[in-house]
Amino acid sequence: MPLDLRRIRADTPGAAATAFFDSAGSSLPPTPVLDTVIDHLRREAEVGGYRAAAERAGDLAAVKAAIGALIGAPDESIALSDSATRSWSDVFYAVPVRPGDRIAVTGVDYATNAIAALQRARAAGAEVIALPTDADGRTDLERLDEVLDERVALVSLVHVPTNSGLVEPVRAIADRAHAVGATVVLDACQSVGQVRVDVAELGVDALSATGRKWLRGPRGTGFLYVRPGLLEALEPRSLDLHSAAWTATDDYEIAGDARRFETWEADVAARLGLGTAVSYLLDLGPDDVFAEIARRAADIRTRLAKLPGVRVRDPKRGQVGGIVSFTVDEASAATGTAHGASAATGTTHNLAPADVRTALAARGVTVGASGRSSTLRDMSARGLDAVVRVSAHCFVSDDDVDRLLDGVARLGGQA
Ligand SMILES: Cc1ncc(COP(=O)(O)O)c(C=O)c1O
Repeated sequence: MPLDLRRIRADTPGAAATAFFDSAGSSLPPTPVLDTVIDHLRREAEVGGYRAAAERAGDLAAVKAAIGALIGAPDESIALSDSATRSWSDVFYAVPVRPGDRIAVTGVDYATNAIAALQRARAAGAEVIALPTDADGRTDLERLDEVLDERVALVSLVHVPTNSGLVEPVRAIADRAHAVGATVVLDACQSVGQVRVDVAELGVDALSATGRKWLRGPRGTGFLYVRPGLLEALEPRSLDLHSAAWTATDDYEIAGDARRFETWEADVAARLGLGTAVSYLLDLGPDDVFAEIARRAADIRTRLAKLPGVRVRDPKRGQVGGIVSFTVDEASAATGTAHGASAATGTTHNLAPADVRTALAARGVTVGASGRSSTLRDMSARGLDAVVRVSAHCFVSDDDVDRLLDGVARLGGQA
């Protein structure tokens, strides 16, 4: 069923204020999410946080059920946390890595994950290796055998990177990784809520995501899925009285389900808000939302590519998702805001994406920018310092897109 844009926009107070294209950064929550959070904060102020939480015990349990319905996972395999990073590192640091092992990462690895891989490798006497990539930066399935062997204990994948529309062929990589006995951890921070994510279809051992991006939930929320079967074998690096029970003065028992990766204390209002956000998506129809995000991104890409001086930096082949990345050429004679080659050489270089973001913000258009250090391997391989990042959710209107295109066209006096 086609989405009811009028209703979705009416539900999204922020959509009237700005043409918003930063859902890959931190999206605009719909009113029901806002109300859930604020109502709970008010209730906490009336009766205290413990009683307020007890009153919503059923709704809190329903948060995991909603996430489970979205990603095809049982509730017991889901742990709630305060960020994608927390969830990802909780599982990443729990997977055993021994001296001589290898940790495989991809060309589009996220800085946080790359740093953790290096730290773990140094501590364990292991080695970080990168899976081979094709010309677009996507993992090259044809060349996986060059690096995937039984020395690889852990494969760290990113479903959709932070800096482009690339979508990794997760299932194919996971199958090959499992064939050599590796554990596959997937960073789905940019994919959950944007593209279809089903843990059985993806065949991964663990997956992490955030609430604030494509799910349109509150900040300070995230979750982890760990495959039942593996879950019981993973010992979290830290425990508390929620993730484990103190059973004797000299003993404790770790929770049998994904609670072992949770802590007792939590922002209950934000968690309830996350549940509302996921339920809102489920009510709209996730497949319709994903289709609309992909359609909008494809349209924006096509139209941007027609503007003089604009270079779309997304992959040319394979599955491409809802993040649109581009740079804007600037003639060397222009102002001092440019990156790249010296003005004296007369070569073309890019407007700094952060300046593009500022210029568009002045026109009521919100976009993001992604710098080299967030995805160092990929950006270095493609010779990029930074890109402008446009990420349109299903509440974006045709008028918003026109404003975006008009704003970009006027950069550097091109219109
Ligand atoms: C690919 C990817 N992974 C992980 C993260 C970190 O998410 P969080 O800030 O919620 O921990 C981000 C955030 O931008 C991301 O883009």
